[in-house]
Amino acid sequence: MNVFCVRLGLSVPLIQAPMAGVSTPALAVAVSEAGALGSFAAATLTQPAALAQQLAALAAATDRPINVNLFCHAPSPADPAHDAQWLTYLTPFFTSLHSTPPPQLQEVYPSFRANEALLDVLVQARPQVISFHFGLPTTAQLTALRTTGAVLLACVTTLAEAQAAEAAGVDMLVAQGVEAGGHRGTFDPTVEPNIATLDLTRQLVPQTRLPVIAAGGLMDGADLAAALRAGAVAGQLGTAFAACPESAASPAYRAALLHQPPLPTALTTVISGRPARGLVNRFMQEVDQPGRPPVATYSRAYLAGKALVAAAQQAGEPGFAVQWAGTGVGRARALPAAELVRTLAAELQQALA
Ligand SMILES: Cc1cc2nc3c(=O)[nH]c(=O)nc-3n(C[C@H](O)[C@H](O)[C@H](O)COP(=O)(O)O)c2cc1C
Repeated sequence: MNVFCVRLGLSVPLIQAPMAGVSTPALAVAVSEAGALGSFAAATLTQPAALAQQLAALAAATDRPINVNLFCHAPSPADPAHDAQWLTYLTPFFTSLHSTPPPQLQEVYPSFRANEALLDVLVQARPQVISFHFGLPTTAQLTALRTTGAVLLACVTTLAEAQAAEAAGVDMLVAQGVEAGGHRGTFDPTVEPNIATLDLTRQLVPQTRLPVIAAGGLMDGADLAAALRAGAVAGQLGTAFAACPESAASPAYRAALLHQPPLPTALTTVISGRPARGLVNRFMQEVDQPGRPPVATYSRAYLAGKALVAAAQQAGEPGFAVQWAGTGVGRARALPAAELVRTLAAELQQALA
């Protein structure tokens, strides 16, 4: 039993990653009830009443800890000229799908840093674990969250980000390597550190006093064992849980996750304005061309990205669908979440024996 499991009362050193749009409250509850830590992706809930309702429903469903995940990017102010340049570039893609781009852009997922009403909800609801992606909350928000006694996790992709998170007073680090599915947690989205999960874990462990959780490309108990041997206290797995029946993945997304031979993944910024890894699709191949203008900032670009995906779907063109996944996707399993947790725990035991 390590510090992570003891602090949270877990029997498996494992977090089901928060996955906006893919993870569900049912997935989080099933994982936490099975002895690991389930996560609730709260970043898409920007209305305090909606967040309060979801947190109350989770608390009613289980007394096990659940991680509540927030996006902490620098708020993206309106930049009409930049937005217009991006929309002009996208126009022919919309036209080819018999559609038109949105007239203007706005943030789809405003940052927690700019939403004090959500802070009040969290302070009231007192979730046992809170995690931050894309950066850190403000100093005042961190101070308020610390008073709740929640374990605070920050996703980092470099040593410099880890040092900033440690100095800010978080409790544990999620070391996200370049293999990871979904959005990179990089604080500065214009720089891709490109460090692999176990390399980053080995780099961070001797340089910080905080426990390190490895994330990115971990799919089975042997991967989890490798992360623990690299010095991590746990692994955070996203893609491995995306194919569980409790996830919100569409049937096409599920089939793509389970496709053999595995489908290739790539990092792209053109869909949302921040680097993210997903299964290679027409959106990446056709929009992410050399010589394209700079992508509008996150999450303004995501408004256009979501509109283009919707236009493609309307036109009966499935190739633009966004299917975030990590490099380990070829080993995803369609097991119910509790069974996947038990399987991972047994594989871990075997790998460590
Ligand atoms: C579909 C999907 C959505 C994701 N959404 C989020 C999110 O909302 N918040 C977050 O902190 N991380 C998110 N991530 C990243 C995960 O936290 C984690 O770093 C990643 O899943 C680990 O890599 P793996 O997918 O190879 O296991 C997402 C990942 C995926 C695959």
